[in-house]
Order: sequence, then structure tokens, then C-alpha cells
Amino acid sequence: EDAVRQIEAMPKVELHLHLEGAAPPDFISRLAAEKREDISRIFRRDGSYAFEGFVHFLKVYEAATGVLRRPEDYARLARAVGEELAANDVIYCETFLSPDFCGGGDVDAWRDYLAAMEEAAAEVERDLGVTLRFVVTCVRHLGPERARKSALCAAETAGRRLVGFGMAGDENAFEQKDFAWAFDCAREAGLRLTSHAGEWRGPEEVRAALDHLRVERIGHGVRSVEDPALVDRLVENGICLEVCPGSNVALGVYPRLAAHPIETLRDRGVRVSVSTDDPPFFHTSMRAEYRGLARTFGWESEVFGELARASLDAAFCDEETRARIA
Ligand code: ADE
Ligand code: ZN
Repeated sequence: EDAVRQIEAMPKVELHLHLEGAAPPDFISRLAAEKREDISRIFRRDGSYAFEGFVHFLKVYEAATGVLRRPEDYARLARAVGEELAANDVIYCETFLSPDFCGGGDVDAWRDYLAAMEEAAAEVERDLGVTLRFVVTCVRHLGPERARKSALCAAETAGRRLVGFGMAGDENAFEQKDFAWAFDCAREAGLRLTSHAGEWRGPEEVRAALDHLRVERIGHGVRSVEDPALVDRLVENGICLEVCPGSNVALGVYPRLAAHPIETLRDRGVRVSVSTDDPPFFHTSMRAEYRGLARTFGWESEVFGELARASLDAAFCDEETRARIA
């Protein structure tokens, strides 16, 4: 148990965190109260988020996100999330931001939101020692046309802080290839690429993300384990999987952590990183993820050290930032 406590306190690198999905329920309910909005239906009596299954999760997520309206709301959120990260010994984190929620895809509105969040991120770095980088994500179930707008927002504002482009949302809506224009646009702007795939649909989704969107990381990607040839391809191409074990168990992708393929993927030589996805929704944290993996798979501190190094290698930041953190 002493060993587990030491592991929990190790410095961590997190590559897959949705900013809105990291909003603590009391942060959202306080904001709703300030705006005199009643969103009590999305909370349980104990104050946690209430949802059943993935599609309902996305609805509750969007309802909670709805109370975030002004750039200042997002800046406050970024500071609150920075404090959570610091409390979990996270030293570097990439958070997903969505122009669909921040200005509705309008580039000028997006600039205001991004500026507010960049200022908050600079404060978090200075005051809490957590380096933050941003990845713009389009929302798959909103369709390719909206994704195109998100990509244009991202391309216009790419830089030292905004380093990547990706896709989240309902994997059962549309196809990866429908978003090729958006990903090409982001790539041409110098952004690095990732897409949620192989969380709800199988290995063919991961192949499609690699073939059509030419991403270098996969959000989740855990169902790749069902196809040995795909696993070989991930290893050969050094594709990093942004694995979120607690999220997968909470949403029922796997019945329990012991049944999660992260151990098998690691053994096969796939680059895996560990993240929380939407921590308050799934009652998790980076410390809890580390604790669970240490207890369930008997991973020792060397494994977690390797994991953090592999994650930093797969990070989208510039080399100077990577060298400063390592
Ligand atoms: N948006 C927030 N969390 C997500 C997840 N786990 N899968 C897809 N879209 C998401
Ligand atoms: Zn996610």
C-alpha cells in the first residue's frame, strides 16, 4: 500500500481531457445558479452528474456545457481544471476545446474564447506549475460541415498553445472519412492530429482514422486489441493510444478494470498513455487511474515512469517545452 501511495503521487502527463468534461458538478451548478437557470435534472441527489449510458452521457454533457456562455466562464473553468490537475500531480496536460461550444464555429467569437483560455492557462502554468496545451476538437455527431468550421477556427489560431486538432462525439454518427477535409485543413496549418476511434466501434474505425484522417494518435483506440494485424500496425507506426480506463469502465465499454485491454496492448508493444477523459462524470482522477492500474495489474513505479515518458513523447507540444518538462 505504501508502494501504491508513492505511485499515486508520481508526476503525470495527461493527453486526453475534455475541458467541459472536466467541469466539476458544483462549478456547473454554481454557474447555473448565477444565471438563474434550472438544470437540476442533470444532477443526482448527491450532486454528481446523472446519466445512463453513452448517448445520455453526451446529452448531459451538452446540457452542463450550455451554462458556459462567455469567454470569462471558460477562463474560470480552465483555472478550476488547472487546480484539479495540480492536485493530481499532473505536470503536462492537453485539453480538448470545441469552437462548437465556444462561439458556435465563428472565427472571431472563437478568438475571444481562446484568448480568455490562453490567459487562464498562462496563470495555471505560472501559479501551479501545470503546462497546458490545447487541442481543438470537432464534434462528430454535429457533422462534417460544423467540423469544417471548427477546423478553420483551429487553423486560424494555431500556435504555441493551440497545438492540435481532433474529433470527439458519437462514434456511431457519420464516418471518419467524412471529416477528411477538416483534418487536411488542420494538418496544413501545422496542427497535430488525433481522433476518437475504437471506443464504441471496432478496429475498422481505428483503421479509418489512420487511413483517411492520417492521425498520429487515437482517442481510446482500445478495441484495436480485437485485430492483431492492426495492433502490429500501431506498433510499427508508433501510434499512441490515449487510453482512459476509468471512462471505459464507467460507460460500460468493459465491465471492470481487470477486463480492460490496456495490459495486453502494452505487452504487445503499443504506445499507451493514460488519461481521465471527463473525470467528474466518471468519478475518476489521474490519481485514481494510477491507483487502479497499480492494484489491478500490479504495475510498479517503473511502468508508470515509462508510461509518462511515452506520453510526453507523444505530446503535441514543441521540443523546447518537452525538454523543459522531461
Ligand atoms: N466527448 C467527451 N467525452 C467523450 C468520449 N468519451 N467519447 C466521445 N466523445 C466524448
Ligand atoms: Zn474523450
